[in-house]
Amino acid sequence: MRQLIAGNWKMNGVFADVARFAGPLRAATGLGCDVLVCPPATLLAAMAQALAGSAIAVGAQDCHPDPPGAHTGDLAAAMLRDAGASHVILGHSERRAAHGETDAVVCAKVLAAHAAGLVPIVCVGESEAERLAGRAEAVVAGQLAGSLPGGFAGVIAYEPVWAIGSGRTAAQADVAAMHAVIGARLHAQFGAAAEAMPVLYGGSVKPENAASLLTLPGVHGALVGGASLKPADFLAIARAARTLPNPAGGG
Ligand code: 13P
Repeated sequence: MRQLIAGNWKMNGVFADVARFAGPLRAATGLGCDVLVCPPATLLAAMAQALAGSAIAVGAQDCHPDPPGAHTGDLAAAMLRDAGASHVILGHSERRAAHGETDAVVCAKVLAAHAAGLVPIVCVGESEAERLAGRAEAVVAGQLAGSLPGGFAGVIAYEPVWAIGSGRTAAQADVAAMHAVIGARLHAQFGAAAEAMPVLYGGSVKPENAASLLTLPGVHGALVGGASLKPADFLAIARAARTLPNPAGGG
């Protein structure tokens, strides 16, 4: 399995950024990982066209749980697929916090993504208060149980909320421990199918810390926020990634 380096642009980016990114990404050779760029929905189609024919995939950052219909301002998974997305980030902590997304809502969105042929990237992670209270593993286990439907096929991103955009990265031992917990939970929930579910780490991943995070056992890639907005930094992180000897869950 190749590691997956995914960039989450969040609410950033204008049309001019598409060419500024697509050029260097297309030109990058010898990457030993899979690369995914998740721009805002306004740029999805342009980014997909700019990267057409390359090995770089394009993803969305959210979808509505329902099929196309009367939902002003929302986007259905099928519409994102039509715009060129192959993946969709779901249940990011910023959406859980700012939009009140519960595990049940995330689960419904995962089903919508499956139905549209999108690969869901489901985000989980504890707050700082939850970690300090010794509840980090229980919180993440609960999110996995509630957010992933039976038959889930996709990617998990472990993003400790306090490490997002803060410049603070989780301690390597804590990352490895949580990825082991997530791997065990996925195996308990899905059996052998869990082998095909990469578990990414996210939270202040930068060129300087990418190699140390991406070599931890059970880390199958990274979900990158701020550093994904600079092509050189994003590519430096991708160059720190590699092809893993074992399938997901096996280290
Ligand atoms: P940062 O890399 O900016 O901490 O963001 C991480 C994140 O939330 C990716 O989804």
